Amino acid sequence: MIKFDIITIFPEIFKGFVSESLLAWARKKKIIKINLHNLRKWTTDKHKTVDDKPYGGGPGMVLKIGPLYRAVQSLSSKFQVKSLKLRRRVILFSPRGKKLTQAMAKKWAKYDQLILICGRYEGVDVGVADHIADEIISIGDYVLNGGEVAAMAVIESVSRMVPGFIAKKESAQKFDHPQYTRPEIFTLGKKNLKVPKILLSGNHKKIKEWRSKLTKSTDL
Ligand code: 6GU
Repeated sequence: MIKFDIITIFPEIFKGFVSESLLAWARKKKIIKINLHNLRKWTTDKHKTVDDKPYGGGPGMVLKIGPLYRAVQSLSSKFQVKSLKLRRRVILFSPRGKKLTQAMAKKWAKYDQLILICGRYEGVDVGVADHIADEIISIGDYVLNGGEVAAMAVIESVSRMVPGFIAKKESAQKFDHPQYTRPEIFTLGKKNLKVPKILLSGNHKKIKEWRSKLTKSTDL
């Protein structure tokens, strides 16, 4: 069973996400495990400070290395079993990182533990990227408020590649061909949207050919 350990200052963001639909089902079936951790748990001062001003000045606040280091240490050691080499990856989310691909999702699905560090505010002390994280990952060329949405993308894409998660293995890496359902004709203003004749033909060989032509695969 693969274990996701999410380090965030907003664990509530994930509550609904992990409790609905396929992820909820996969957790119940013990195909995946998802643990939420509030970074503030690893602070040492009475105000539970997770961020500080950047050296050199500038706007905004930066997540401190100390709490993140202690978080990763404690989540790693708990999981360590002597003589058993656990496959683990510590992933930091940052718009400066490598873009997430299906190949990464497929590779990480074979790991035992993924520790996901969600950045927030203006950034994270660079020591985390340089000395703590194994991977620095972005989900695209746009700026988000933090790594939480990116972590969700990793959790879904990786979970789909874990054996047992998707009933039909072939569908795990495919984007669907166009789909149609009733009614056969839908009137949209002056237009009549019609279901392609081939789908009504009952010729399964022809339908299969038509669909495979229009199916986009991630090609792995
Ligand atoms: Cl991982 N973080 C933030 N803050 N913005 C992003 C991103 C990550 N990936 C794309 N944009």
